[in-house]
Amino acid sequence: KDAIRVGLIGFGTVGKGLAKTLLSQHERLTQKVGVPIILSRVADIACTSLPDEYRDVVLSNDAGDIFTDPAIDIVVELIGGIEPARTFLLTAIEHGKHVITANKALLSTHGKEIFEAAAARNVEVGFEASVGGGIPVIKALKEGLAANRIESIRGIMNGTANFILTQMTQHGTPFEEVLAEAQRLGFAEADPTYDVEGIDTAHKLAILMSIAYGKHVHLDDVAIEGISSIKPIDIDFAREFGYCIKLLAISRNHGDHVEARVHPTMVPTDHLLANINGSFNAIQFTGDTVGDVLFYGHGAGMMPTGSAVAADVVDIGRNILAGAINRVPALSYLPQHFSRPTITPMG
Ligand code: HSE
Repeated sequence: KDAIRVGLIGFGTVGKGLAKTLLSQHERLTQKVGVPIILSRVADIACTSLPDEYRDVVLSNDAGDIFTDPAIDIVVELIGGIEPARTFLLTAIEHGKHVITANKALLSTHGKEIFEAAAARNVEVGFEASVGGGIPVIKALKEGLAANRIESIRGIMNGTANFILTQMTQHGTPFEEVLAEAQRLGFAEADPTYDVEGIDTAHKLAILMSIAYGKHVHLDDVAIEGISSIKPIDIDFAREFGYCIKLLAISRNHGDHVEARVHPTMVPTDHLLANINGSFNAIQFTGDTVGDVLFYGHGAGMMPTGSAVAADVVDIGRNILAGAINRVPALSYLPQHFSRPTITPMG
């Protein structure tokens, strides 16, 4: 095989981040995979032309052009939302393409369907960019922590909500003003209620739990409360008692059941998670063998998320060349039960 060819659906913020990364890191990626990684096609309904540097890339308004191109090895879906993203991924899989997605809303609701379809066709699903933006937390959980029973997951997984809480805490800036700034910076979801109501965080927790516990966890398994009702007075009171307020995703493994919850949490000011500010994310795993590990970095944005998608391209590209598809399965089944927990502050 002389190259790995990629078809990209969606030339928005993250799509552009991937395209830029594939171009600027071309030599490095070629060296790492063994053959050149080529962005062959882009499909986007709203895009009429690509910047000059992509003159060899074929642009189309129809994703079907990507599925039916026999030269394409990997289809990357970066349009977000449930439909038509779900149909695009299933169609790509049906055509025998490996797929990569950053679509946490889709994976946390239709992940079972997508992973089962991919397993049936013996193709891979890369989803590193779906949680933690540029932080390689999926690969860490699948590979680096493989020898652990995961006791807990705790994290700040939404940059927009953390940015809002940080600005409210440090500068008393009104909620709406900070949200508008997060939208301008390109962090916020198309529907920012997903950010502020904890839904985006719950999408990500469900995905991490699915890997950690070897069972498809659905968004509906997560108890969710957002930050829209947090007032400056709540933040002031919390501070008086030595806490700050963070929107946390929390999962605890009790053996026979696992808690899954997202809510504003009183975090002691000397705790590491209390000191994650702005749009940064931090995700802490506790494993029975390794103990605590903490991942910190940019959880959103064009280039960090593009970096995570490109890492999946490298991973899948290497597996294609080695003829070793699904070398690291997303899920390894362990029987668990999930229950809705009581929401409690973190001590
Ligand atoms: N809206 C998300 C955030 C983007 O603010 O973190 C990354 O998933």
